[in-house]
Amino acid sequence: MADPPSDLKQLASAAYSELAAASDDRALEAWRVAYLGRKGRLTSLLRSVGSLSLEERREVGAAANRLKAELEAALEARRAEARQQQFAAAIETGRLDVTLPGRPKKVGRLHPVTQTLRDVLATFVSMGFSVVEGPEVELDYYNFEALRIPKDHPARDMFSTLYVDLPRNGEPDVLLRTHTSPNQARVMERTQPPIRVVVPGRCYRREATDASHEWMMMQVEVLAVDEGISMADLKGTLFEFARRIFGQERQVRFRCDYFPFVEPGAEVAIDCFLCGGEGCRTCGGEGWIEIMGAGMVHPEILANMGYDTHRYTGFAAGLGMERICMLRHGVEDIRLFYANDLRFLEQF
Ligand code: PHE
Repeated sequence: MADPPSDLKQLASAAYSELAAASDDRALEAWRVAYLGRKGRLTSLLRSVGSLSLEERREVGAAANRLKAELEAALEARRAEARQQQFAAAIETGRLDVTLPGRPKKVGRLHPVTQTLRDVLATFVSMGFSVVEGPEVELDYYNFEALRIPKDHPARDMFSTLYVDLPRNGEPDVLLRTHTSPNQARVMERTQPPIRVVVPGRCYRREATDASHEWMMMQVEVLAVDEGISMADLKGTLFEFARRIFGQERQVRFRCDYFPFVEPGAEVAIDCFLCGGEGCRTCGGEGWIEIMGAGMVHPEILANMGYDTHRYTGFAAGLGMERICMLRHGVEDIRLFYANDLRFLEQF
């Protein structure tokens, strides 16, 4: 037989102990439904009060309503408590361990050829030259014609050229510059002497690659035009340059060479800084290492630019950055520079 007052007591003690065990939102909600929901135990008990005597009804009804209010308050309190516990647990599991070592930041670096290029440019800038640039995709006119290399000139064979557009009738031929020398003409065309410029830039040649040849390379063109410039100025400038880049004891050797745009033309070498001229692997047993082409600007070019050739003379030189970088660091294969292998690049 049902005995409402003792049922109520039982219900209360069961409710409190279950509430104490419920620790998350789901369990708390389940508890609410089980006791206070529309079909919950307390609600059913309240409904059954109707079958009692008037006196009992009043007593049990009041007690049940009290218990309902108490249980609701207890639920709220338990919910707040559970929220606190969850919060504390979240802080605990997500806690920052300030004693952990930091993650090292990867520091980038300049490409070895860029490092060399910057050193080379800085050296010329410190000697009074300014840095200018010109286009990588060049007209045949500047790359060849203006430099005294007409279409049928055998010197074109020196440069296996990559053409952008196949030559068409009446249209200018467009190519990837094979050297930075077109900038000699470009600078002289727009400037009056005195001129002292260095022009860095990528150059391209249709070349089978090997340890000392690449189809792309970084050159620096040197150009000085002024009154009274002589071969001695060329030699002095390149001598100073070689000493600053390769060491104070360097010697410079000039030998005759031919480039259509200079007269006289020279091939410039430094004495081997590894063997001191004895002959070794780096200098190929020669004792000398070629580092650039150079010469006095051909007077015909100066005249074509509208300069008074009785008044002005000039010198020019062109040097490859990869070669200088290889010599500085003992790199034996030029192809390493553009193979994008970090094991190589991270050494610089
Ligand atoms: N442009 C020549 C080359 O690429 C080098 C050079 C520059 C020679 C200036 C003489 C004067 O081979």
